[in-house]
Amino acid sequence: MKWLILFHVLGASVWMGGHLILAATFLPKALQEKNPVVIKTFEVQFERIGIPALLVQVITGVWMALIYVPFHEWMSLASVHHRLLWMKLGLLLGTLVLAIHARFFIIPKLSSQNLSGLAFHILLVTVLALSFVLVGLSFRFNFFAF
Ligand code: HEM
Repeated sequence: MKWLILFHVLGASVWMGGHLILAATFLPKALQEKNPVVIKTFEVQFERIGIPALLVQVITGVWMALIYVPFHEWMSLASVHHRLLWMKLGLLLGTLVLAIHARFFIIPKLSSQNLSGLAFHILLVTVLALSFVLVGLSFRFNFFAF
């Protein structure tokens, strides 16, 4: 388990850290200059480490989740761990839907006109990433009153 957590925390550092840097530094600059190239340059570089990091999160996350909740019990919300697991799966679905929508409907025709649409995506994916961290830590240190 300790190795799974190590790789999960490393993956989380890349995913969370990358999106925080994008949202807090590159996005304000791009919006100020109305220049989508600022974000495109970051995205092209970040994807090379961001996508493998997300894959690590899914593999190590599902593996750890199976240790907390056996697969045949997944269709239940009986315990805190069941509920945290479904929150993680919901966050993953949200992240994938936003990523696919941005990749195929916003980025191909990115311009200063639709930059605000991408800005909304970036902020939402960053909030989902923060939620992943909070829900993840709650498996051991329950932050939620349920
Ligand atoms: C980008 C996506 C994700 C991020 C940023 C993330 C982040 C985190 C963080 C920071 C922790 C706390 C590690 C610790 O306790 O020291 C954690 C724990 C955990 N995560 Fe994730 N996670 C992600 C995706 C997933 C997915 C997709 C699943 C499974 C469906 C998952 C399942 C878990 C589990 C079971 C734990 C508890 C491990 C433990 O502390 O015992 N995670 N996550």
